Amino acid sequence: MIPKILVFAGSIRTGAYSGKVADCAQKELAVQGADVTRISLADYPLPIMDEDLEEEKGIPDNALKLARLFAAYDALLICTPEYNGSIPPLLKNTIDWVSRVTRDANGAPLHPYPGKIVGICSSSSGHFAGIRSANHLRAVLSHIQMEVVAPQVSVPNGDTAFDEDGAFVDERLRKAMRRLCATLIEYAALLSKRTDR
Ligand SMILES: Cc1cc2nc3c(=O)[nH]c(=O)nc-3n(C[C@H](O)[C@H](O)[C@H](O)COP(=O)(O)O)c2cc1C
Repeated sequence: MIPKILVFAGSIRTGAYSGKVADCAQKELAVQGADVTRISLADYPLPIMDEDLEEEKGIPDNALKLARLFAAYDALLICTPEYNGSIPPLLKNTIDWVSRVTRDANGAPLHPYPGKIVGICSSSSGHFAGIRSANHLRAVLSHIQMEVVAPQVSVPNGDTAFDEDGAFVDERLRKAMRRLCATLIEYAALLSKRTDR
């Protein structure tokens, strides 16, 4: 079984470090034999979560599209930046809107998060590699009943972390990415066989 893995970054900034980490993850997952798809949250703009808006207009189409996409994959890999020690609003807002989806447009149950395998990468321009954001993201994803794998890649000093080919300069980060991707693939394959999802 070839696991289908969806990769995205929590930043849509031009030249985003989290986007570069997502590039590394995409390449490594493909090398290890996964069926990888990369998306950009720029293609799924969403208003700021507001329950009045939800009441008036319903769940935005882009949240439903993302929910369907998440449900269609065996695993997700999310690459988060760090804003003020936590998850950036683009990523948290996306997670929050998608968490409101319980049914598809045709009324069929749609639960994109529970039991879904997910891996986390973090990055930042500073020395701490977005580790606080990764910790918060891990807690949020666990709260929505995703199965977060233990290996994690946290990339410090984004401006010097990548070589001209976009690969990690630091061999320890290359090794960490190999381990994260191997774990994600292994768990995604295992979980796809479970019938209680
Ligand atoms: C509002 C804001 C808050 C930030 N807070 C942190 C922080 O708490 N820790 C950190 O290491 N970097 C912080 N940064 C710097 C980011 O690591 C840096 O801008 C990074 O490039 C953003 O991620 P991206 O490259 O994936 O877009 C912050 C940046 C912004 C814009």
